[in-house]
Amino acid sequence: RASSCSSSTSSRHLLSRAYSADASPERKIAVLGAAGGIGQPLALLMKLNPLVSHLSLYDIAGTPGVAADVSHVNTRSEVKGYVGEDQLGAALEGCDVVIIPAGVPRKPGMTRDDLFNINAGIVKTLCTAIAKYCPNALVNMISNPVNSTVPIAAEVFKKAGTYNEKKLFGVTTLDVVRAKTFYAGKAKVPVSEVDVPVVGGHAGITILPLFSQAKPQGINLSDEDMKALTKRTQDGGTEVVEAKAGKGSATLSMAYAGSIFADACLKGLNGVPDVVECSFVQSAVTDLPFFASKVRLGKDGVEEVLGLGSLSDFEKEGLEKLKPELKASIEKGIKFAHGN
Ligand code: NAD
Ligand code: LMR
Repeated sequence: RASSCSSSTSSRHLLSRAYSADASPERKIAVLGAAGGIGQPLALLMKLNPLVSHLSLYDIAGTPGVAADVSHVNTRSEVKGYVGEDQLGAALEGCDVVIIPAGVPRKPGMTRDDLFNINAGIVKTLCTAIAKYCPNALVNMISNPVNSTVPIAAEVFKKAGTYNEKKLFGVTTLDVVRAKTFYAGKAKVPVSEVDVPVVGGHAGITILPLFSQAKPQGINLSDEDMKALTKRTQDGGTEVVEAKAGKGSATLSMAYAGSIFADACLKGLNGVPDVVECSFVQSAVTDLPFFASKVRLGKDGVEEVLGLGSLSDFEKEGLEKLKPELKASIEKGIKFAHGN
């Protein structure tokens, strides 16, 4: 790499910096739960994103240190740390995108639904503040159980009169990240060439990878291979929880996945065409009110919820099997939001 001491390189460098700063509008991002296992690496990855101009790091403890640390990285965004509920409003004011990895993670033997009792209340509090301080922000929900926390957020926003179904996303990108990795390993193709849609929800059998649509096409894996890949993707979170043996769940791969999804949201807001990611959103793709599928992102958030495409018999069966569990999780979230 050329040294920036050379004058021609240096002026080119300055020009390209000026161009990218001009071309990319100011965007404020908040990470709620920024001092946590996901929050810290996610804060770093968002600090590395040139589309971010202001990075707001909020948690109930520990954010001054995380913010001071991340703020020394010499990239575009200005970083501020906020700690405790009385600073939540300032953290959120003016945000374009709010990413929520706040809440407790699983330990071995737990399901994501076992986190409901603690995380539902946390998400409700945070979404109440979002409705008040940045009602137009795109919300990227990471906190589990996503199948219930997204419906909770929707109900909180409806109650506040700020709900816009185009702006609420359950982050299921980690399922896609895993499906791509596992598929590339099995099919022995470069992972950078692989794409796999993952639909449904984000827990156990509600996670439905569509390996029959995997790219590159023309790779013939056996039915047994497809089933094993599906199971590994569905159990990917548990694989990490067990390997961490009581010290939490996926944090680094989740931060990576969260940063990919937030970047896609920012690109959509900035008018980049054809930005498509899978996400758990309000949906008419099935008879369930929320469902994960490919979504085209635009200047207002969801531009189009894309359909499922053609499914193999195994995937059709998986789709029917997941519906009762996903329906119950959605209803549990809605009920909680109304009952409290
Ligand atoms: P963690 O315990 O390491 O961090 C959570 C952070 O949230 C902590 O810093 C904590 O102080 C903070 N927090 C708690 N209450 C808060 C509140 N009211 N406001 C703001 N912050 C608050 O946990 P983690 O490993 O980072 O996981 C966080 C959540 O993300 C868990 O619910 C986990 O299940 C979920 N998760 C989701 C996915 C996904 O694919 N969607 C992947 C991995 C983890
Ligand atoms: C994951 O998929 O890794 C997360 O949902 C965390 C978990 O509890 O498995």
